[in-house]
Amino acid sequence: MTAAAAAKTQRPLSNAAREMMEAINVDAAKHHVWVRTQANAPAQRPWFSETGGEGSGQLASGRVAANQMKTLPHMWRWSEFSPYLHRISEIARKAEVSPIEFADRQSILLLNPGLNGRLQVTNTIRCAISIYNPGDVAPVHLHSPNASRTILSDKGGYTVVEGERCTASRGDLILTPNGTWHDHGNDSGEPVIWIDMLDWPLMEFLDAAWVDHDLPDAKGNAKVQAVTKSDGRSRRLYGSGGIKPAFVDHQIGVGRSPAPLIHYRGADVLETLHSLRNEEGEPHEGIRVDFVNPVTGEPVFKTLNYSAQLLRPGEETELKRETAGTFYVAIEGSGATEVGGKRFEWTQNDIFVVPNFLWRRHINTGKTDAVLYSVSDEALMRNIGQYYAQGRAKDGKVTELAQ
Ligand SMILES: [Fe+2]
Repeated sequence: MTAAAAAKTQRPLSNAAREMMEAINVDAAKHHVWVRTQANAPAQRPWFSETGGEGSGQLASGRVAANQMKTLPHMWRWSEFSPYLHRISEIARKAEVSPIEFADRQSILLLNPGLNGRLQVTNTIRCAISIYNPGDVAPVHLHSPNASRTILSDKGGYTVVEGERCTASRGDLILTPNGTWHDHGNDSGEPVIWIDMLDWPLMEFLDAAWVDHDLPDAKGNAKVQAVTKSDGRSRRLYGSGGIKPAFVDHQIGVGRSPAPLIHYRGADVLETLHSLRNEEGEPHEGIRVDFVNPVTGEPVFKTLNYSAQLLRPGEETELKRETAGTFYVAIEGSGATEVGGKRFEWTQNDIFVVPNFLWRRHINTGKTDAVLYSVSDEALMRNIGQYYAQGRAKDGKVTELAQ
């Protein structure tokens, strides 16, 4: 019997039966036991049920759903969130200490309005926007969550990963895979801003989130690691597509399955996208390229995959929905994304999330090419055998996209 059929045949409990069940549950609670009732049945409809927009993922009512909060479609406008970055960075000028000295970071964290204040933008992803003043340094550390930074400033400070210094520019993606020592800073004369993306909420759910601040063999009270490799080394090793070095150990740090290419340059990404703009592309994504582990060809993390896509002026993608949640930031141009009954008009540096299960499509409404960067947990869902996706053509025909 399918779940939908089971839902149709399920009769509500009579009041007398409900009272008796609840009485048993009151007693059983002393032993941390719950007697199954209709109230804690699992989701009784498939993920692709038409639900409209708000609250679309309320899969079940009762005890399960009470603990199951659902991400909502949402957009954070650069014009609205960026003033807070500048306000916190000014504290350092006006007060005797900078926030980075007492809070470790000068960051704002984006909160999905469907998650009741949790520090996350989707079910698995945390997003912080950080600002580093000239001279700021984030001390060296290592953690179990995978992380990255996407640079929004024209010049984006630097990150040192396992002894390799990455000097960043706008559109760069710098990875700090789980188990890699890294520190950040800004030695330029201007504040720099970037987006931190992490699979931290997932690691927290698994009770597997941990941080190490004690770099072995660190000399004196140095807060940063020594630069032991030449600048651009990982790009020289791995940055030519299809050419893999045969003489090095691909392991970096102590993490599991770390991607060894740590610095993807925005200039290279944009050049690649624009060089492909006359290709037909894909109806749901336009011209999309994926950031991959150059050794395996797999997504850069087991949990998260990163992409960049170009939409040509006037281009409208077809509707798509999937069991993964996706984060977007507009890097170039302007456009709109329709999702769950909402329409987000975005321009440069605006950020928005498309929750799982909801139909969405992108439209380039501008006069120039538009570029979106995205991060999603499709990689995780594929790895656990839970990735499904569908497309809907203009004639309404729904097709399965993922096998
Ligand atoms: Fe970190």
